[in-house]
Amino acid sequence: MITIDELRRKYIEFFKARGHAEISGKSLIPENDPTVLFTTAGMHPLVPYLLGEPHPAGKRLTDYQKCIRTGDIDMVGDTSHLTFFEMLGNWSLGDYFKNEAIHWSYEFLTSPDYLGIDPVKLSVTVFAGDESVPRDDESAYLWKKVGIPEERIFFLPREDNWWGPAGETGPCGPDTEMFVDTGAPACGPDCKPGCHCGKYFEIWNDVFMQYNKKADGSYELLARPCVDTGMGIERTVAMLQGKKSVYEIEAFTPILKVLESITGKTYGVSSSDAEIDRSFRIIADHIRAAAFILGDPKAVLPSNIGAGYVLRRLIRRAVRHGKKLGIEGLFLSRPAQAVIDIYKEPYPELLENAGRIFEELEREEKKFLETLQKGEHEFEKILPNLLKNPDKTMPGRLAFKLYDTYGFPIELTEELAAEHELKVDKQGFEESFKKHQEISRAGSEQVFKGGLADNSEIVTRYHSATHLLHKALRLVLGNHVAQKGSNITAERLRFDFSHPAPMTPEQIAAVERIVNEQIARDLPVTMEMMPPEEAKAAGAIALFGEKYEPIVKVYTMGDFSKEVCGGPHVSHTGEIGKFKIIKEQSSSAGVRRIYAVLE
Ligand code: ALA
Repeated sequence: MITIDELRRKYIEFFKARGHAEISGKSLIPENDPTVLFTTAGMHPLVPYLLGEPHPAGKRLTDYQKCIRTGDIDMVGDTSHLTFFEMLGNWSLGDYFKNEAIHWSYEFLTSPDYLGIDPVKLSVTVFAGDESVPRDDESAYLWKKVGIPEERIFFLPREDNWWGPAGETGPCGPDTEMFVDTGAPACGPDCKPGCHCGKYFEIWNDVFMQYNKKADGSYELLARPCVDTGMGIERTVAMLQGKKSVYEIEAFTPILKVLESITGKTYGVSSSDAEIDRSFRIIADHIRAAAFILGDPKAVLPSNIGAGYVLRRLIRRAVRHGKKLGIEGLFLSRPAQAVIDIYKEPYPELLENAGRIFEELEREEKKFLETLQKGEHEFEKILPNLLKNPDKTMPGRLAFKLYDTYGFPIELTEELAAEHELKVDKQGFEESFKKHQEISRAGSEQVFKGGLADNSEIVTRYHSATHLLHKALRLVLGNHVAQKGSNITAERLRFDFSHPAPMTPEQIAAVERIVNEQIARDLPVTMEMMPPEEAKAAGAIALFGEKYEPIVKVYTMGDFSKEVCGGPHVSHTGEIGKFKIIKEQSSSAGVRRIYAVLE
């Protein structure tokens, strides 16, 4: 039976034999990309090369990459969702295209020397085409040529057969996905690859990157079309081993064993213990992700912002489920040791940084156990009253009190409440939160991102213009541009940002033009509230080094800008007026300053 180590080895060996250079996977913490918290796919560190930069290792690459996706973090606990996973990939940077990619995919999947999947179990999907990109008949033709009969080739729309870009801009294109029939019964007459009932297992994705999505939403053809493929290791191995869930493979079983020995409970013995199994899985998933984040050469530490906040949440949720399983005291270092043992060969950094993994886990675990004790005690005191509440809802201001006085995270309050079949009034929580912010701000000058003079209409228009300016600067100068200060009066805006050199007249003109284009598009401006890590995962620009509250406001201007901000803003960009830069000068070392007016 194939293991995760063997799959990694076979895959890399297969592509090396076909002219690919093996490159090493990169850090979990993305470089030069403030729009996402973690590396989310094998292609992510390769974006500059997919866009045309030459890669030092050549035009054919292969690797395994550690990835974290936080979008489904609340779903973890079922049998399939994972926070951390490994992705295998092979890339052509303007070298081979659909023919070789499809040919090799088929060969790797079906050859007895590699995965040996029976070809009759394979089906594929290809892009059905739409108004901007034609149907991918070429891929369908190539699949037929390698041996997939027409009736197992499905044309699906953009929502199924289109990849990327990860952020708002970047390389993207139609993809073709490969599915294995698991033998489970079809859920109905319309069941086909892409259906989530469990009959069709998606094993691999070949993306044909032909476009670069630009900030204005248009697509430009890439100078050199590329291939990007991705195969998730844990899921694939579970399927090949005939296991019902990823938690039954050797990436997890040693972790679960350690947890069994700590708790004296057994994992997966009886369906009546679904809750116990869920806690086992949450701890196993979260400790794996946390150990990889702390073991990364560019590790972040638990904190209240960005990736550090995700890490804190992972650790704290693991601790809390440990308590649900009856564990007293500190325990995380033992499953963490199991993670290191499983992965120390493919990821030697885990062993090198083991000291940090253990120290930081313990520090955070201790801190949280204290918080928990106080918060749970308080919750139990108010519980009898809550249970009397006829609509079974915990008032938002009580949830806020737990947060404010005891540092008890809202998501844990929700979990505790759910255990007693109570809901939490989240909107009320957010309102209390906002009121609290306003009170603590009262008396001091209103300061938002460097300062608004007042909330008058003209100041609001300048403020919205500042968001467009910020995004336009990043598009023209690069993603290193970060806001360093902002000051707005009724006469002008002043915006400071990191950039090493004076802007050229062409750059200034381009920024001005982009801002005015977005004004002319009259984009709707909308606001949503969410935890900061969700905001960042959604690609919102945020101020780094800023300490964020657990819920932040995110302002979105059409498809152009998304930024964490206190507001207020216009409701449509058309209200801003005509934007003109009147001066660009130095502010301090490495920081430029722009003055602009609205005419
Ligand atoms: N980048 C593609 C994916 O992650 C291959 O599915």
